[in-house]
Amino acid sequence: MTVTIVGAQLGDEGKGGVVDLYGDRVDVVARYQGGDNAGHTVVHGDQEYKLSLVPSGAVRGKVGVLGNGCVVNPATLFDEIDSLRERGLDPDVRVAERAHVILPYHRVLDGIEEDAKSDSELDAGTTGRGIGPTYEDKVGRRGIRIGDLLDPDVLRERLEYVVPQKRALAEDVFGVKTGEEFDIASLYEQYRRFGERLAEEGMTVNAGDFLGDRIDADENVMFEGAQGTSIDIDHGIFPYVTSSNPTAGAAATGTGVGPTTIGTGEVIGIVKAYLSRVGTGPLPTELSDDETEEELADQIREKGGEFGTVTGRPRRIGWLDVPMLRHAARVNGFTGLAINHIDVLAGLGSVSVGHAYELGGETLETMPTTTERWADCEPVLREFDGWSEVDWSEVAAEGYDAIPENARTYLEYVSDELDTPIYAVGVGPGREQTVVLETPFE
Ligand code: IMP
Repeated sequence: MTVTIVGAQLGDEGKGGVVDLYGDRVDVVARYQGGDNAGHTVVHGDQEYKLSLVPSGAVRGKVGVLGNGCVVNPATLFDEIDSLRERGLDPDVRVAERAHVILPYHRVLDGIEEDAKSDSELDAGTTGRGIGPTYEDKVGRRGIRIGDLLDPDVLRERLEYVVPQKRALAEDVFGVKTGEEFDIASLYEQYRRFGERLAEEGMTVNAGDFLGDRIDADENVMFEGAQGTSIDIDHGIFPYVTSSNPTAGAAATGTGVGPTTIGTGEVIGIVKAYLSRVGTGPLPTELSDDETEEELADQIREKGGEFGTVTGRPRRIGWLDVPMLRHAARVNGFTGLAINHIDVLAGLGSVSVGHAYELGGETLETMPTTTERWADCEPVLREFDGWSEVDWSEVAAEGYDAIPENARTYLEYVSDELDTPIYAVGVGPGREQTVVLETPFE
C-alpha cells in the first residue's frame, strides 16, 4: 500500500512530523520532487535532526529514496549522510539514476537571477539552493543526471556542452564575473568522485523498478512531498513558486510508480492551523495591516517557531486561507487531513479564518488562477471563539475528545469545508504530541 503526504498550503505545514508519525509501519519513504530547499526537523527520542534532502524516514531506519523527480546536490546528500553516521545512525538512502544533479553553477545562477528580478519585485525569495536553474536545465534537455556521474566520459561530454553556456549567461547576460563554479576541469573532478562514492555505496537505483518491486512484495511505501500546493510550479502562485510539483500527481511522475497504484492508496493533506510563508508575493490573509496584527503575527511566529529550517528567515504569518485549502483538496484529491499547530493558536481570544474572497464584487470560494488577481482578493473572515492553553501532551494521550471544544469546532469546520476526514491533529512538535484518529497503513 502507498500513502502520499502533501503540503496543502505554502510549505512548512509539518509534513516531516506526519511522515514520522506514520513511519513505523512504513518500509520505504520516497521523495518525488524538490531538493535541498526542503527542510524538515525530525525529533527522535531526545535527539533533533534537521534534514533537507535525506527523507525523514531514514532517521528511523527506513529505506529512503530520492526519486527521479528530485534534484540532488550530492554535496548536501553526503554531508547529511555523514552527519547522521557520526550520530550513530546508518541511513539507507537510494538515489534515482534519472534524478537531475544540482551543480555549483546552478546555485550561483539562482542568486544572480533573484537579484536581477528584485528590481521588479519578481524575485521568489528562493532558498538559493539552485533548484530553479537545475529544473530549467532538465526541461531544456541539457541537465546532468545522477546516472551520468557514474560514467566519466558522459559526465565530461555533458559538462563541456553546458558549462560554457552557463558561463556566458552569467558573464555576458548578467555581467557577473564567474569563478570555480563554472570551471569544467574542477567540476569534472569533483562530480566524478561523487559518482564513484554513489557507486561504491550502491546507492543508485531505477526508482520505478526499486519501488515497484517493494510494492509487489507487499511492503508499505510512503511518498513524502516537499514544499506545498500553493508553491507548485503549475498549481501555485506563479511566479512566487518553487520549480517542481509538490502536488500528489507528481508522486507518480517523480518516482516511476504508476498513478493507478498511487491512486489506490491514501493522499493525506497536511494543513497548518494558520498560514506561514517564507518567500515573497501576495498573501491575502497576512497579519500585517496594523500594529495589532503585527504583534499577533510576532506572537504566533515565536510560539510556532516560524523561522525557515533551511534559511533561518522569519516567516510571514496569516490566518488560515480556506479557498487555498479548497484548491489544494481538488488538485490533490485528499483522502485524509492532518491539521497541525492548533496548540500555537491557544490563548487567543478569537481565531479567524479567510473563509472566502471578495474580488470585484464577486465572492470566490477558491483561488483565482492568476497571482495578480489573488493579490487583489479581500478575505471574507469568519471568526471562531479561541481556546485556552492546556497540557497538550495530556490531550495527545487522551485523544480527540480531550481537545478543547472550540478547537474541535475549528477543526471540524475545516474538515467539513474540504469534505475530508481528519486523520491526525498536531498539538506539539514531538510525534507523541499528536492526536491520531486514523492510521492509514492499518
Ligand atoms: P526555491 O525552491 O529555492 O527555488 O524557492 C522558490 C520558492 O519556494 C521561494 O518562495 C521559497 O521560499 C519557497 N520554498 C522552497 N522550499 C520551501 C520549503 O521547504 N518550505 C517553504 N517554502 C519553500
